[in-house]
Amino acid sequence: MPLPKAELHLHIEGTLEPELAFELAARNGVELPYADTEALRKAYLFDDLQSFLNLYYSLMAVLRTEDDFAALADAYLARAAAQGVRHAEIFFDPQAHTARGISIGTVVEGLWRALAASEERHGVSTRLIMCFLRDEPAESALLTLEAARPHLDRITGIGLDSAEVGHPPAKFREVYEAAAALGLRRVAHAGEEGPPAYITEALDLLGVERIDHGLRALEDPDLVARLVRDRVPLTLCPLSNVRLRAVDVLAEHPLPAMMDAGLLCTVNSDDPAYFGGYAEDNFRAVREALGLSPERLRELARNSFEAAFLDDDEPRRAR
Ligand code: ADE
Ligand code: ZN
Repeated sequence: MPLPKAELHLHIEGTLEPELAFELAARNGVELPYADTEALRKAYLFDDLQSFLNLYYSLMAVLRTEDDFAALADAYLARAAAQGVRHAEIFFDPQAHTARGISIGTVVEGLWRALAASEERHGVSTRLIMCFLRDEPAESALLTLEAARPHLDRITGIGLDSAEVGHPPAKFREVYEAAAALGLRRVAHAGEEGPPAYITEALDLLGVERIDHGLRALEDPDLVARLVRDRVPLTLCPLSNVRLRAVDVLAEHPLPAMMDAGLLCTVNSDDPAYFGGYAEDNFRAVREALGLSPERLRELARNSFEAAFLDDDEPRRAR
């Protein structure tokens, strides 16, 4: 039986399995530049974050209707439940869809249909976190927050993702302030490919409560001391780090050293359709490659519930 756990770093668009991509492409009359699911899977060889993002954004072309987003989220929740996930905080990238002419309402209401049924259908409670694309202008993030206003009863928090290097957290200070004023929780990707200074900036300037990845934190001892003291959770994604070449091999992943340093680490799947595994697959991989003891694995599972936005009760109904 997999350990009960919370998944805190999961991009819903990154759960698009090749089979569903082809099904949605056929349904929506979208031509995919791959002969079949096998050919598509063979394209899942990445050199770095950007090479993954190119494919990740291009495959989103198959997602067009509320039904598509509901099907995507329901398929993820079924897989997550089978892997011991009891609570999932799900990222989505509204700008990647509005840029293609899909309204934010289609995205949020489609996802929400699956999320609202999830406790009963899958035994998984959920939260929705809207991410801004950091390689787009800050103005676009502000416009996206504004466009999301009618849907904020569905949305618990905001995040920051996409190409990290060259797009420091400082760029998004204003939109994070506006989101905080609306009562939204705040997280941000930092220290995946970018330097530890981006983690410090996300804490100081964006007021984030968790760091997504934080892989490079150990490079800065003062930062580590602060993260330990304040019990700032890090949502690590080991299989993702290997596939995107942030670490050479899983056996060299810094997770054990980070736990030894007293950091509040969690293990998550990021974009499981692309990186070779869902939540329990990541737990199994770190157990096997890093020799984590059963107690260490239980600590990771416990941390995931401590770091979750479960104290938020239900997402607010009206703002
Ligand atoms: N978008 C989807 N997955 C991501 C990742 N691992 N880092 C940054 N942006 C992402
Ligand atoms: Zn991510």
